[in-house]
Amino acid sequence: MIAIGSDHGGFALKKALMAHLEKRGLAYQDFGTYDEASCDYPVYAKKVARAVAGGACERGILICGTGIGVSIAANKVPGIRAALCGDCFSAEATRLHNDANVLCMGARVVGEGLALKIADTFLDTPFSQEERHIRRISLIED
Ligand code: RB5
Repeated sequence: MIAIGSDHGGFALKKALMAHLEKRGLAYQDFGTYDEASCDYPVYAKKVARAVAGGACERGILICGTGIGVSIAANKVPGIRAALCGDCFSAEATRLHNDANVLCMGARVVGEGLALKIADTFLDTPFSQEERHIRRISLIED
């Protein structure tokens, strides 16, 4: 199960991402926001982050205008490694090296076509399981 959420700035891109996940047959839970009315991004970032940290969802996707606000908020939740990505190289590397469990994107930064490819890369890339990366991740949690 994928947890997905956005503020008003990311609402349209979240809808496109959900349609894409549906087309791929990937189950998701939408944690809001549910319309384009102005709202507070930390509320939705925390909902998605807690669903992932608590184990109800394996991965999360968060979108706001820049992706920065949701990534800062999500990373405050223990156990969350949220990565702000604007390209596929970063999305692949953060899965391989950081075992990132939440993908953050900025709807005012990336276009829809790129955002869907970034999400696919993030969701389809497994963690490398390499010892040095396991060690570094455990040092983050210290
Ligand atoms: C909303 O205008 C905007 O501040 C928000 O979407 C996000 O970019 C915050 O980091």
